[in-house]
Amino acid sequence: MTRVLVRSVALEKTFGEGELATPVLKGISVEVAAGELVLLMGPSGSGKTTLISVLAGLLRPTAGHVELCGAPISDLHEADVTRVRRRHLGFVFQSYNLFPALTALDNIAEVLKLKGLAARDARARATRALTDVGLGDRLHHRPGQLSGGQKQRVAIARALAGDPALILGDEVTAALDTHTALHVLAILRAQVNAERGILLVTHDKRLEQFADRVIEIEDGQISRVTPGGARTGAAA
Ligand SMILES: Nc1ncnc2c1ncn2[C@@H]1O[C@H](COP(=O)(O)OP(=O)(O)OP(=O)(O)O)[C@@H](O)[C@H]1O
Ligand SMILES: [Mg+2]
Repeated sequence: MTRVLVRSVALEKTFGEGELATPVLKGISVEVAAGELVLLMGPSGSGKTTLISVLAGLLRPTAGHVELCGAPISDLHEADVTRVRRRHLGFVFQSYNLFPALTALDNIAEVLKLKGLAARDARARATRALTDVGLGDRLHHRPGQLSGGQKQRVAIARALAGDPALILGDEVTAALDTHTALHVLAILRAQVNAERGILLVTHDKRLEQFADRVIEIEDGQISRVTPGGARTGAAA
């Protein structure tokens, strides 16, 4: 049976109160299962970042339910939500979020040490993750010495090093040229397996070829769900 990694039911999120109340998510029910790469698309301001933040447990929903890797995070205390997130989630952002003073290897190893790994194990795992994204020859480069695509691959390696079941990304290719964006997506696609799924927010239509499903949201509601190119067999 397919394992659902994240599920929301009738999710609502309103920012502010009273006259200033802004409803942003208006009843969103989505699922992402292991083995699939799902794109979340929609106009600017439609609620995409808000949705993945609620799915990740970074924001509390106003109403509705979120289950993340089997845990009912919308009902859990903050500390428990954090534990679930640390254990099961990997994040990748548009802006890479790397420490400029640290090498690619240390950017990953330091995070793994914070998760409790011994220094030697952290460095071994960081080396493996960087090798997996094709950066085995850039271990000791600092972010300033890497291209945009390489920096994003370091960020992906950092997310992968924690062996997350679910990877969430927000506009991971927005700062990259076409060739590099497609390369980065191919790397992410290769990380989807029977235990792992990926949900990416994007404006980029070129990424549809890598997706199993494309969920479109408009004004806080799902407007359309279509199969992506990975499902229909559309050529790259
Ligand atoms: N903390 C907040 N307080 C009040 N309003 C917010 C807050 N965060 C987001 N919003 C509002 O929620 C709406 C959706 O924002 P969100 O960032 O989710 O959009 P998005 O789909 O990710 O847009 P983009 O494609 O531009 O990144 C926007 O109108 C925004 O102003
Ligand atoms: Mg956004």
